[in-house]
Parts: sequence; structure tokens; C-alpha cells
Amino acid sequence: MTTTEIPHPAEWPVYDESVTLQVADLVRSGRTFDYRHGQEIRTLEDQFSALHENRHALAVNSGTSALFAAYHSLGIEPGDEVLVPASTFLATASPLFLLGAVPVLCDSGESSGNVTAATLRSRLTPRTKAIVVTHLFGCPCPMDEIMRFAREVSLPVVEDCSHAHGSTYRGRPVGVFGDLAAFSIGGLKLVSGGMGGILLARERRHHEIACLLTSFQQRSQITVTDPGLRGLADVGLGGNLRITPMAAVLATSHLRRLPQLVEAKRRNISRLMEALVAHPGVTTQALTRGRTMGGWYDAVVAVDPDIAGFTRADLVDALCAEGVKARVPRTGPLHVRSVFRGDPVAAGLLKYPAAVRNAYFSYGEKDFPRSSSLHDSWVSLPATYFNDDEGVLVQPYVHAIERALSGLRRKSAGSVAAVR
Ligand SMILES: Cc1ncc(COP(=O)(O)O)c(C=O)c1O
Repeated sequence: MTTTEIPHPAEWPVYDESVTLQVADLVRSGRTFDYRHGQEIRTLEDQFSALHENRHALAVNSGTSALFAAYHSLGIEPGDEVLVPASTFLATASPLFLLGAVPVLCDSGESSGNVTAATLRSRLTPRTKAIVVTHLFGCPCPMDEIMRFAREVSLPVVEDCSHAHGSTYRGRPVGVFGDLAAFSIGGLKLVSGGMGGILLARERRHHEIACLLTSFQQRSQITVTDPGLRGLADVGLGGNLRITPMAAVLATSHLRRLPQLVEAKRRNISRLMEALVAHPGVTTQALTRGRTMGGWYDAVVAVDPDIAGFTRADLVDALCAEGVKARVPRTGPLHVRSVFRGDPVAAGLLKYPAAVRNAYFSYGEKDFPRSSSLHDSWVSLPATYFNDDEGVLVQPYVHAIERALSGLRRKSAGSVAAVR
């Protein structure tokens, strides 16, 4: 099979020249760390807060740290269970290992891959202490029913918004529904400081405990006001999980133009999706009314081979042959990964009791069938090249998609004719 080359521009994250100069200034002046609460970190937090109904915002060094701080500030203890989507990135679950708490995986409940109140409820036990939901690939979870369920069973909710910068649910940004919300602002995320994370908290107390955990001494002395907690600022709660001023400047530059980035991405990715769903049996991640995709962390389509006349693998191969960087989504169900499949080394290192290991860390391929079958149907396009206003890759990709689909149609017409 010959492969067509499509020249790709630089992959996200991309930064303006003025921001590069600002970072260079910080480096030149030796301001490469901030133990206090300098302007760069303050600005990032203030802007996040302003975009999210004035929730308390704390910048940290990764999305993983933001999730760890969320769980810690909720007082999650060893043996506590937390409901976690099976379809998410590992970091939604893995910070619970550090607390000796148990991630209890929950199947997808809708074709977006997201959990629903029903799939969460089916895994509830008397030991459940919190719920975490991920707005997968940027598609908001059904927050009305999830929050109704959480209120009914009196459990706090953490939203993992790492894929969903700029996504909205019934006109409100994701991250304002739960008690706490974590955003990764690292790597390929639409708002990226290289490495970084943001924790949003509804309650000041959670914000202050998270600050003590992530940023001892000076920053905690500035931020922590609760007389009962302030006295701990001299030592903190064991973490040094601070963001750097450089990362804050880089992430703020994306945050400032988030609406523009979201609009460019919507325009660009919609064109790719239109070209793909023109073929029967190829569908996009379902967006029901009242939800918007925001950052489209991943641009995913599902293939139903019975209708399409080709498999997911056929489509990936045909797209790649035309120069499209198509693949299986990297974010896949957790239950098929090492720690959750009964890996003996993990069992020795993580030290959960045998009963917990057997119930929650020994899954088989057939568990969580909806998450698995959705993942097995998905093809991911490289959304990280489509954040530009000009949409330079849109036309070449649309043409490549059309060529790939017509090649597959010819092939499947040929094989039908051969069978006859
Ligand atoms: C859904 C989700 N949660 C959490 C994280 C962790 O973020 P970080 O890589 O910044 O630690 C990621 C990272 O990709 C993610 O995709």
C-alpha cells in the first residue's frame, strides 16, 4: 500500500512570539520558580476563576496533582471507595492509590463513552465516599442526572475536565457542577503550559487544604485564611506540587484566547466529521442537546462494520494510507490495563487487602462491555493540528478522507461482487 504524505504544521501546543519572550524574560531574570503567589500564577488562577463562576482556583504542576489534591481535600481515606469511569485517562483513578483508596470502575452509560447516573448507581456500596466523572474527549457528562444522584446519596462530585476546556453543559462551563474540578493544563491540552493543572473548588476549605498539600510555607501563608488550618502553613501536608511561573504564562496565553481557539476547533473539526459521517455506519460522538464540545481534546468517530461495510481497522489503515494521522484513541478503558488486571507486581506495591484486590483490581476483558465496545469502534483524528483560525490542514484532510472512503467503498463493492 502506498502512503500519501500530507505536510503537517507544528503540533499543539503553539505559542505566540510575545509569550515566548515573556518566558525568556523570566528565565533571564532567574524567576524560574515561585514559592509565593506572584503575578503570573495569580493571573492564571484569576482567569480560570472568572471563567468558572468564581470558583476558587489553585494552579499546580499537573492535572494528576490537581486530582490528588481534590481527593485529599475531600478527606478520602484508606479503604474508601470512589466511583471512577472505566473510560478515562489513568490519572482520574491513580491518585487514589496514594491515599490507599479504591477506584471503583463504572461502565459507560451513553454513546459518548461517559458515565451516567445509572452506571454510577450500579457500583455504589456503603463504602463509596465520592464520585469522579470525566468529560471524555471534551463531551460533557449528563450533569443534571449525575448531580441529582449525588445529592440523593449525599456524595461529593469531582469533575475531571482535562479534555474539556471550553465545553459547556446547558450554557454553563464544565467544572462548575461538582464540588471540585480538575483540569490538566499540560501536554497537548487546549490550554497548555507544558506541564500544569488547575483545581477548582466550590468551598474555600477544600481550596485551602489543597493549597497546604501542594504549596507549603509562603504560598500557604498567603492563601490559607481559616484559623484552624493556617497554623499548618509552616509545614504543609506533604506535597510540593507547585506550577512554575513559565508554565503559568504559557497556559494563560491560551486561556486568554480560549473562545477563539474553541471556535476555530469547532469549525475545523466539524468539516472533518462531515466528511466522515457522509458514509453510512460512521458516526460522531453523540452530543445531545444542551452540550457543547469545547476543546475537542480528541476527534473521534465510531465505525459500525455491519452498516459501513468495513471495520474500524480498515478505516484507520485507509486514512493512514492517505496521509491522515488516524489511530485508535489513546484514552482507553482502564480495566484492561496492568494494575486493574491483577498484575502481581502492582498487587505487591499497592498493598490493597486481598478482598479489595479480588473485587477491584482483577478485571477481565469482558467487564465493562459498553466502554470496551465503544473503544473498539472508535477512530481518532489528530485534533491537536486543528486549533488554527486558518484551518490549514482542513482541506487536505477532507480530500484524504474522501479518497479513503471511496477506496473502501470500491473494495467492499468488489468483495460483494466476488461473493456473488
Ligand atoms: C482525563 C485526564 N485526566 C487527567 C489527566 C492528567 O493530567 P496531567 O497529564 O496534566 O497530569 C489527563 C492527561 O492527559 C487526562 O487526559
